[in-house]
Amino acid sequence: MSDAGRRAIAEYWDAAAPAFDEEPDHGLREESVRAAWARRVRGWVPDCASDVLDVGCGTGSLSLLLAAGGHRVTGVDLAPRMVGRARAKLVAAGLTARFLVADAAAPPVGDETFDVLLSRHLLWTLPEPERALRNWVRLLRPGGRLVLVEGRWRTAGQGDASPYPGAAGRLPWGDGVGAGELAAAVRPLVSELRVEPLSGEAELWGGPVDDERYALVARR
Ligand SMILES: C[S@@+](CC[C@H](N)C(=O)[O-])C[C@H]1O[C@@H](n2cnc3c(N)ncnc32)[C@H](O)[C@@H]1O
Repeated sequence: MSDAGRRAIAEYWDAAAPAFDEEPDHGLREESVRAAWARRVRGWVPDCASDVLDVGCGTGSLSLLLAAGGHRVTGVDLAPRMVGRARAKLVAAGLTARFLVADAAAPPVGDETFDVLLSRHLLWTLPEPERALRNWVRLLRPGGRLVLVEGRWRTAGQGDASPYPGAAGRLPWGDGVGAGELAAAVRPLVSELRVEPLSGEAELWGGPVDDERYALVARR
């Protein structure tokens, strides 16, 4: 991605940061929604304390659930104000995690590897999502888990306060990506893969939804 493209996307999310957590599935402020995500997250990560990389971590809602579960969490996000909120949220909860302001397509973690790489709702905004997937799998230890929470949203591109910086056809999965297409992209990179449909789980979203939402869980 060009520096200008990265800057434009970071500015968009910096502007969105103050209100981001108002959506039920973003801020997880309702106990029923938080508990539903906590249950799901527990099913995606090992029972023992693990190293987890949360790419495109936003305001850190899932990072927080992971840290609360005893995992060592690194969050990466392009937007400094999203990361600022994530840091503040963890501190307020008395939890620790490391947060990096960086491009999640190629996380700047040197030689570090992880037990789990988790990403929720990031792939749609990456100019080269398949390159990012290859980078992410390389960051996993053997047997490590890739967890991608994604969808094809009916509301994609509608009702935004400002147009999305990459909207002019430059984002291959800009309207979201269906489970079949994402599985086809991930399958050659991993040894095991399953898709958990999430559209029917109203408590995750704070109400019923009728578009495609799922988690793809794979093992290196
Ligand atoms: C829809 S939000 C999802 C946030 C979080 N994963 C969640 O589910 O609550 C998308 C996030 O991706 C971040 N983002 C967009 N492009 C990015 C990139 N290339 N590298 C890192 N973060 C990026 C944005 O700043 C924003 O925080």
